[in-house]
This record gives sequence, C-alpha cells and structure tokens, in this order.
Amino acid sequence: MRRPIVAGNWKMNKTAQEAVALVVELKELVSDVKDVEIVLCPPFTALEAVSRCIEGSDICLGAQDMFWEKSGPYTGEVSAEMLLTLGCKYVILGHSERRTHFGETNQTVNRKVKTALESGLVPIVCVGERLEERRSGDAKKVVEDQVTRAFDGVPLGGAERAVVAYEPVWAIGTGLTATPDQAQEVHSHIRQILAELYNAEVAEGIRIQYGGSIKPENARDLFAQQDIDGGLVGGASLKAESFAGIIRGAQL
Ligand code: 13P
Repeated sequence: MRRPIVAGNWKMNKTAQEAVALVVELKELVSDVKDVEIVLCPPFTALEAVSRCIEGSDICLGAQDMFWEKSGPYTGEVSAEMLLTLGCKYVILGHSERRTHFGETNQTVNRKVKTALESGLVPIVCVGERLEERRSGDAKKVVEDQVTRAFDGVPLGGAERAVVAYEPVWAIGTGLTATPDQAQEVHSHIRQILAELYNAEVAEGIRIQYGGSIKPENARDLFAQQDIDGGLVGGASLKAESFAGIIRGAQL
C-alpha cells in the first residue's frame, strides 16, 4: 500500500517570516493527520526557518531544485549536501517552470536525479506534456520520454525511493485541472513505463503525484484514482486552510 504524499511547492513566494506564519497555522490544522506524508518546499531562503518550525512534527522539508555538482564555481547554485544539512528530505527536480524559463532539459534532470539519490535526497521528478502536445495526441509519448530519460542509468535501489509528479503544463496555474480520468490514464502509463524500466514490484511501490490546479474541491476525486498517490500543489499550498483541505482529500 502506497502512503499518499502531498507536497506544497511554494515556488517564488513567501519570505522566511511569511513562511513561518503559514507553517504555524498549517501545523495546527493538520496535527491529527497521520496517514498522509506532508512535504513543504519553500524557496531556498526560507528553508532554514521552515526547518526549525516543523521540528518535532511529521511534516517533511523539500527544496525546489539543486545542482548536480558537490561544490565549486557555480554561482547561484546549491548542492545536495547543503539541502541535507538544512533538514531537507526531498527535492523537486525538472519542474516545467525550470524547463521553460531556466533551460532544464531531460539530460540535466537526469544528472540531478542521480546526484540527489546518491546523496540521500528523494527526488520528486516532474514530468508533463504541453497543451499542443496533448492536442496532437502525444501526451503519453512525451511523458514516456521524460520518465525514461530522467531515470536513465538510475539503479533499481535508487529508483524505488523516488517520487514522480505528473504535472500537465496546461493545468499548472491555469485553473484547468486534468479530470481524474485524464490524470489516471497518464499515471497508469507512467507506472507501466517504470515496470518496464525496472520491474512490477518497484513500479507498484513508487508514488506518483498529480499536479496542476489542485484545490480542496477537486483533490479527493483525483486522489481516489488507483494510480494517483497524492499531489504536488502550487497556488493552493500558499494558504494554510486550502492546503490542509487538499491534504485531507488524500486521507484514506
Ligand atoms: P498550481 O497548483 O498552482 O497549478 O501549480 C502546480 C505546480 O506547478 C506544482 O508544482
């Protein structure tokens, strides 16, 4: 049985002070939730403050990106070790916004996934098709290519710890949520690809999140699908009440 995982990707929002205020409120609202893994992914500048604030709770910390080198002349970048020492367990990799605005490719995602796993971080590997790719009937093919290339050369022992997030680009921040059926179709395809890359047991164990305009009103129907194991939430994770509502939607 896969434990659902709901992560808040705050993107470029919240100062450290604002982050703490949000976490204080959220902790109160979800203090009784045990059967859902909750992850907060604030910007780098708020990681330390959030890390302190969630100490002693079941809430986990994640970063929104990292570089694959261990250290060196890479201005603006942060390493896996830097994230680990702040208490991060997860790192989002290959988000479509990084692919669109910052030149992330399947190849760079692959290098980052390998480094994250070797360092002991759990990557949340983001994949998803653009609107024109869905319209031309290529959604599954695009996602298959992204998954296959992200996991290229990743050993079984690493892959089984990873999380995959299916985020159709057309659903991110648009209010156009994928229907539960549309999402389930791609999720089950991703699981099938993972079974081919590794084996059925590994594929059955990997958690696959849905992301794209999740709200408290649509979360439960999405999470009820057989191959949807929680969500990666953007906008609705910036308010404690709506994020808590979504987390409750993943309770079994
Ligand atoms: P929204 O929930 O704002 O659509 O963002 C989804 C997302 O990109 C999470 O990583």
